[in-house]
Parts: sequence; C-alpha cells; structure tokens
Amino acid sequence: MQSWRVHSAKRVQGVWRPPGDKSITHRAVILGLLARGTTDIENFLEADDCMRTLRIAQQLGATAERLGGAHWRITGRGGEALQEPPEVLDAGNSGTTTRLMAGVLASHPIFSVLTGDDSLRRRPMRRIVEPLQRMGAHIDGREDASRLPLAIRGGQLRGIKYLSPVASAQVKSCVLLAGLNAAGVTEVTEPTLSRDHTERMLRAFGAELETQICTAGAHRVRLRGGQRLEGQTLSVPGDFSSAAFWLAAALLLPGSDLIIEQVGVNPTRTGLLQALAQAGVHLEWSAIDEQAGEPTATLRVRAQPIGAMHVEGALVPSLIDEVPILALLATQACGETQIRDAAELRVKESDRIETIATELRKMGAQIEPLPDGLRIYGPTPLHGAEVHSHGDHRIAMTLAIAGLIAHGETIVHDVACVQTSFPEFEALLYRLVQ
Ligand code: S3P
Repeated sequence: MQSWRVHSAKRVQGVWRPPGDKSITHRAVILGLLARGTTDIENFLEADDCMRTLRIAQQLGATAERLGGAHWRITGRGGEALQEPPEVLDAGNSGTTTRLMAGVLASHPIFSVLTGDDSLRRRPMRRIVEPLQRMGAHIDGREDASRLPLAIRGGQLRGIKYLSPVASAQVKSCVLLAGLNAAGVTEVTEPTLSRDHTERMLRAFGAELETQICTAGAHRVRLRGGQRLEGQTLSVPGDFSSAAFWLAAALLLPGSDLIIEQVGVNPTRTGLLQALAQAGVHLEWSAIDEQAGEPTATLRVRAQPIGAMHVEGALVPSLIDEVPILALLATQACGETQIRDAAELRVKESDRIETIATELRKMGAQIEPLPDGLRIYGPTPLHGAEVHSHGDHRIAMTLAIAGLIAHGETIVHDVACVQTSFPEFEALLYRLVQ
C-alpha cells in the first residue's frame, strides 16, 4: 500500500495552472463519441477516471488519438449506431463514467455490462436506473438493479418528465444523454441547481436546450430527442476541485502567496469561494475569460484568518466535492462551523462524513459527524498522526494538506487512489511547498 510522509511546512508559493477539470473532460469525451467528426480536447485530464471514460468510448467505436501532452483527438460515431462492446465495460472508481455512460448505453440498440471497483460497486445506481426504466430501458443488476454490475439492453427510449429527488449532476446528465437519442422531449427538474457542465457542453456541440428556474429554487432542463452533435475544438478549464486543496494550503500556511491560473470558476462549482467570502476571506481575481462555454479566472491566494461558516441548502451542491477540504479549513477557523443538507457525502467514494471526521480527529481536530453533515470547532492546532484515505482520493489529499499545517510528521496511507483525479498532486508537495 502506497503512503506519503508529510511534514509541517512554512508556506506555499508559486504560479500554477491546475490540471483539466475532471467533470468537463468526461463530458468532452462522451459528446465527442456521440458527435459527427472530430473533437480536439486540450488540457485533457489524463487521470484514471477520465481514462476509463475514454476507454469505454473506444469500446463503443470512437477512435482516440493522443496528439501530444494532455491533447487528445476523438473521432465519434456521429449518430451512427454505437458498436456493441464484446467485453464488460469497467468504470473503475468513476461514478461519473458509470452514470453518464449508462444514459448513453440505454438509448442505443446494443447490449452492454457495466461494472467498477469495490467502492463503485457499493454506490447507489437506482437513482439512474429508475428514470432510465421509465424511459423504456431494460436494465438488470445486483440488488434489483440498484448496484453494479448492470446489464443494459439499450433501445429506442421515449422522453419523460423526470423530477429528481436529489440535486445530482450525474443523474441529470444521465437522463439528458438518454433523452438526446429518445423520441420526444425529455425534461429533468432538480431541487437545486447541480453543476451544469453537461448543459453548457451540449450547447457548445450544437444542441438546443431550454433551462428554467422554477419555484423554491428548483431548476428544469428540457431537450428534444434526435438532435445531432458536431465535433468541437475545446480547451478544458483547470479543475477547481483540485485547485481547492492548494487554495486551502495557501490560506492556512502563514506567508503563503499562490497564483492559480486558468481555473474553472463556473458558479455551480465554486460554492467554496462563497463559503470563504462568508468567513471574511479575500482572494484576488484576474484574467477572467471563457473556455468551452465555461468561465475561467486566475486566483491569487494569500494566507489570512478565517471565520466560522454555515453551509447549507442550495450552496451545498456547488461545493459537494470540497467538503473534506472545507472541514480542514474549519478546524483552523475561529468559531463553530456547521455543514448541513449534505447527506449525499455518505454515498461518495467513501462515506465522507465518517471518514473525514475519523481521520481529522486522529490529528487533534474537534469535528463531529451529523446525519447530514459535520460540526467543527476551531481553531485547533493539529498534530502529525498515521491516517488513512479509505481509498478515497479527496480524503487522501485533504489529509496531506492537513499534514502540512500539523506539527510533526503525518503518514497518509493508501494514496494510490489520488491517481483517479489528480496524478500531479504528489509532485506539487515538493514544487509549491517550502
Ligand atoms: C459529478 C457530480 C457530482 C460530484 C462528482 C462529479 C459530475 O456527483 O460529486 O464528483 O461530474 O457530474 P453527484 O451527481 O452524485 O452529486
């Protein structure tokens, strides 16, 4: 089992462009598979999760060519039938690959079997199977088709009006991708807006969609089936979720000054910045731009004091992947931080409410799990300890950053999982840290 030894650091410093956004890279590959012609993707995230999506796209008949470092060309099927894959499709650790691809597979006349690693096989799939079955898909799987492996006999689906019980971009995207090849109109309403990369990218590839804000903050997307997509050239913005670890390190280590270039700042992803603004944190923004229909900016982060935060409601989906690092920030904030309405954390790569509370406690943090979130008291000095990732990349990286601010040595066990989203992370422990 691979481990990291992390020592207390003085500061983080430098100018750094984060690797490509994971969610956007997945979508670029999938739309590239479905589009006519070629799709050129720059700043492609060459991490395990996105390579799983790429491999499955190839098994379905796309061709993929690496033109150079992090630059890929996908040649899609352009509305032709997808190739029936003779082998099982393995999504590894990637929930996004599984749930988005399930929408594609169910809406094409092919048979496929989709599976993943131990963690992914424990994660809930009923949330996508149920709407797909309502659209007419034939899906079977473990525990009444609520766990992988799923066997999918795809075919002609019909559009539905789907009221999603959770604000999940994976559910929304699954149903929209199925709707793209279904008869009639597909409509998805979610209780609050989740990341909207699929909607933005479908538009960039030439599809027409209607979006609407409904009562009580609900959001609706509507799309007509049978629309053709055209291949595009795009550059993937830097991943805000990966940048968040270094942003936190820069805020917490006195004397830090870090410039994060060309990072995606789509508001459905940057709830962490809103929570930090509430905590009195000030960041400098510059070079505000757009890439692939997505806003980007350069952020300058300097060390500063942090106040307590209250995170709940509509803010939660926009920082859901940042809760582990937000919890670490809260251990150093002045006062009691509460994170609520975040029960979804229990069904991520690990039960992140339990795993982050258990591991940060080993380092001296005052942190309490709640059924739907966390309560954290700060500021509390942390000390080095032996901690475990529980096979979850975001827990591993949060614990490494905790090691930088703790006294003494921290050993983070089981860190190979970081390859799923951020292979460059370990090198940055040397490049950015002093
Ligand atoms: C993702 C959506 C979110 C997020 C995940 C990536 C996506 O999951 O946690 O890391 O790319 O659509 P949910 O849809 O389950 O909230």
